[in-house]
Amino acid sequence: MTPIGNPLEALSLDELRTRTSWKWTTYPNDVLPLWVAEMDVPLAPPIAESLYRAIANGDTGYVSGTELVEAFQGFASRRWGWDTVSADRTLVVVDVMNGFVQLLDAITEPGDPVIVNPPVYTPFYSYTEHHGRRIVEAPLGEDCRIDLEALDRAFAAARASSPRAVYLLANPHNPTGVVHTVAELTSVLELAATHGVTVVSNEIHAPIVYSDAQFTPLLSLPGAERAFSLTSASKAWNLAGAKAAVLVGGSDTADDLAAIPAWTSRIASHLGVIAQTAAYNEGDEWLDALLSGLERNRNLLGELLTEHLPEVGYLRPQGTYMAWLDCRNVITSDRDEGATAGSFGAMAGAAKLFYDDGKVAVTSGHVFGPGGTGRVRINFGTSSSILTTALRQMGDAARSAALS
Ligand SMILES: Cc1ncc(COP(=O)(O)O)c(C=O)c1O
Repeated sequence: MTPIGNPLEALSLDELRTRTSWKWTTYPNDVLPLWVAEMDVPLAPPIAESLYRAIANGDTGYVSGTELVEAFQGFASRRWGWDTVSADRTLVVVDVMNGFVQLLDAITEPGDPVIVNPPVYTPFYSYTEHHGRRIVEAPLGEDCRIDLEALDRAFAAARASSPRAVYLLANPHNPTGVVHTVAELTSVLELAATHGVTVVSNEIHAPIVYSDAQFTPLLSLPGAERAFSLTSASKAWNLAGAKAAVLVGGSDTADDLAAIPAWTSRIASHLGVIAQTAAYNEGDEWLDALLSGLERNRNLLGELLTEHLPEVGYLRPQGTYMAWLDCRNVITSDRDEGATAGSFGAMAGAAKLFYDDGKVAVTSGHVFGPGGTGRVRINFGTSSSILTTALRQMGDAARSAALS
């Protein structure tokens, strides 16, 4: 069999510009879009074949069956040695964030607190608040890792205000790409047990972890009996439009899961379930090729920053195809006007400079909450040529701003 080539180098910019997804339709055609978490890859062949088969067969009805859960069990066991995903405590949900609010409905009441670690994926705020729950912040430390003392304080404050509190953990973390260690996750579980907080681990980026880190599924650790994990094949195999995700409960969550209505599992997309089942069952080889390509881009990004934007701090991500860039030394003071938090498209500071003058759309750090201002998140799930052009343009923009 011919080895799979680097999927990130398979498509030209002209081909990508024919896409109609969010990434490719938000900005004008002269802008390179390196923002929302879509990758510039073709579908993995086994996934494409599963979808072609379904279309040829008119197999486009409601979702049914246990294939996705079984496929995820197999993947979790092969990749992470996680052998305790119980089909009895695993639900198919429409996507990760909607699965999260459905879980909130089951285990909390309106007004209850949800603890998050900003800077963090913006929808952690928007979904929670739109759902009538209250955010309690436990900011990451200076090193962008979980600050256990801040978490302890936030857990205590949350529980002082309500008998029910949820901690929404991102593992790996978005936007920093940090992969939490066993020691960190163990401490998180200990704090949660001390304060009586339910931990929900968002593990959507878990398959994308590089050779210098190791992903640990939260539920594989002792002390996670009352915790939950939410995941999907949508990031690693670029299937955000093929809606499906899985919610996995620890060994002591059967009652909580029973409170989630059965119709929840029918609102996932049948095509999404077909595609994601193929990803987990037959997508390992493609994923490995992707991971090599992403790891190359992670290094290339470091080199390009040294060459074009030496004043920018680069936190080399351990996982995800996002990189968190500290742009506080890029001169941007006049660019903050009109900045509004809470929306992916809101441009401020360096992101606005890179957009206005560099024609590159990255995500402005301020939308990820406290600790985000002055940073940007860049999506390097693209070809080396797009990444190289983007970094050159961003560097030129920063240099002209410094001169003016
Ligand atoms: C941490 C995290 N959670 C959730 C999502 C979105 O997942 P879904 O579309 O399944 O809600 C993303 C997308 O980038 C993400 O990065």
